[in-house]
Amino acid sequence: MTIRRVLRAGHPAVRASCDPYPEDRIGDPAFDRLIDDMFESMRDYDGVGLAAPQIQEPYRILIYELEDTERYDRDERIDPTVLVNPTVVDHSENTVRDWEGCLSLPELRGEVPRYESVTVEGLDGTGESIRRQATGFEARIIQHELDHLDGTLFVDRMDDMSRLSYLKEFHQFHESDGSS
Ligand code: NI
Repeated sequence: MTIRRVLRAGHPAVRASCDPYPEDRIGDPAFDRLIDDMFESMRDYDGVGLAAPQIQEPYRILIYELEDTERYDRDERIDPTVLVNPTVVDHSENTVRDWEGCLSLPELRGEVPRYESVTVEGLDGTGESIRRQATGFEARIIQHELDHLDGTLFVDRMDDMSRLSYLKEFHQFHESDGSS
């Protein structure tokens, strides 16, 4: 496994639209290596999610997990999850606002409206069909990472740019105003 460099905003690969990963190559050594690299890189950078284009792999693959619940002040762990060629097939009417960060926009936090729940379909890391109904933080992670597959960053989803903050100022002024 290799820790790969996570590209930051400004690199063209972060803004590119990705291709579906060939289904018949899921489970190949190159695929398994890519997934391993994505998890190792995400963990090394202390992220909860990562999309393949962030390590310059132009495919529709995303991963996420939440092990350290304290760090993110969340109640529930989220098991390591791989989604290949995912699509949102259903979502709630209502949206919720909460703060997000991104490994491609280090040191920034922004308040982003997202659907409260989504249903996503795709393939898992073994090529099996997967359908996941997610709510709350997991739903937020899925929407954030799915956006990466089309070159969209969380700042593009913000509707109030006064709610963009550097990390230090976020802890100082905004952490307690949390989600709504
Ligand atoms: Ni991100």
